[in-house]
Amino acid sequence: ENEPSVSITVVGASGDLAKKKIFPALFALYYEDCLPKVSIYFSFINPGLSFCNSNFAYKGYLRNMVSRTLTCRIDKRENCDEKMEQFLKRCFYHSGQYDSEENFAELDKKLKKHEGGRVSNRLFYLSIPPNIFIDAVKCASLSASSGNGWTRVIVEKPFGRDSESSAALTKALKNYLDEDQIFRIDHYLGKELVENLSVLRFSNLIFEPLWSRQYIRNVQLIFSEDFGTEGRGGYFDNYGIIRDIMQNHLLQILALFAMETPVSLDAEDIRNEKVKVLRSMRPLQLEDMVVGQYKSHTKGGVTYPAYTDDKTVPKDSLTPTFAAAALFIDNARWDGVPFLMKAGKALHSKRAEIRVQFRHVPGNLYNRNFGTDLDRATNELVIRVQPDEAIYLKINNKIPGLGMRLDRSNLNLHYAARYSKEIPDAYERLLLDAIEGERRLFIRSDELNAAWALFTPLLKELEEKKIIPEYYPYGSRGPVGAHYLAARYKVRWGDLNVEP
Ligand code: BG6
Repeated sequence: ENEPSVSITVVGASGDLAKKKIFPALFALYYEDCLPKVSIYFSFINPGLSFCNSNFAYKGYLRNMVSRTLTCRIDKRENCDEKMEQFLKRCFYHSGQYDSEENFAELDKKLKKHEGGRVSNRLFYLSIPPNIFIDAVKCASLSASSGNGWTRVIVEKPFGRDSESSAALTKALKNYLDEDQIFRIDHYLGKELVENLSVLRFSNLIFEPLWSRQYIRNVQLIFSEDFGTEGRGGYFDNYGIIRDIMQNHLLQILALFAMETPVSLDAEDIRNEKVKVLRSMRPLQLEDMVVGQYKSHTKGGVTYPAYTDDKTVPKDSLTPTFAAAALFIDNARWDGVPFLMKAGKALHSKRAEIRVQFRHVPGNLYNRNFGTDLDRATNELVIRVQPDEAIYLKINNKIPGLGMRLDRSNLNLHYAARYSKEIPDAYERLLLDAIEGERRLFIRSDELNAAWALFTPLLKELEEKKIIPEYYPYGSRGPVGAHYLAARYKVRWGDLNVEP
């Protein structure tokens, strides 16, 4: 009866993120009965949008938006329509300016009405451009925070453009919120295989002892997309791939990969270890970075655009859409081991993976079976975050038969084959964690500072020196410079091999 209520207000509910990720995730959670019993979902939308005219029009819009963006896993479910109707009954909209205290006070009234005197917990999801973050936080906190329960705010990157602007943003947020009310999302932390990294390392005897410079030659963190910035050029041009992917998604994976064993699985313990790794890293050097930008390419009669063909991108933009970098962690475990990152848009494939290349077997009895290419014979562990999640280990194996010939085979854990359950979207997990107050997968402000400290000097240098990116054709494997960079550290990118 007197269960507390939880309201989720998506501020900027007509934007891309809300359409593609937040509402589909909310509905999926609702469908699975994962959300608190008394829950209310509000869309806070700028006035002037045609679908806000009436409640009816709004519900139609929402239904359409959610069902259009649902993945087939929902289509396959039973009672989807019925659940959808129930879900929509709990959805409301409020139209207002994101910087109006008055409009937030009106929202507060509506929320109170639905909360019906219960303890009220309120989650605000800011799905709005960074220049209005602070205003919205201010208004939400002053005029619409809960009087008797918790108030939390989820913010999405970009958290600034560099150390200074990020610190300013944090300082401004903290005028209105405590650190434990701020949930900074890095949605890669919500991906199944990223969460599994700690399980793999810390609950299997066979990995952790090998997890150091003694046995690992290099680690590669690879992100590639087979499409360009289509439609997002306006945002992207101000940030570039280093800020869009490397400074957050790939660096977060690196921190989880490389951290020491945390004291416990508690959010603070894990985040303490991640910060230690980030603070042990050397700030990036220009010579350890290669930047690229995609150019137009015609293939099979189809012409793919150049980055600068995007109308919202200046013709002379030098913003990188590709970057490769070598990073180092100066601590006892990782001294001298190159961590190579590669991230790019408009490449030949879409994938995100972690590749761990192990050292050569000392005094290998079988060396002569490998010819001169000993690198190819070393073990490699691949964690394919997406698509088609998998973990596989490349080993050398005897080809069955009377002779002694070896080949490379995979011990392969293929998720689709092993687990019939479908993998939830990262946003589902993160939303649920925010509701439950679980902070493990969110970025603490000292982590954010450490992450910016690594990249800021280099980002400034790139911009001040107007470094020209290496141009690569849309749909290619990216600039050849990435190979020279890797070769300097005696590394070969593993994603060029034929994979299972
Ligand atoms: C976002 C970036 O954080 O992640 C986008 O801003 C990128 O540029 C996206 O496309 C990739 O996310 P996912 O989950 O589709 O791999």
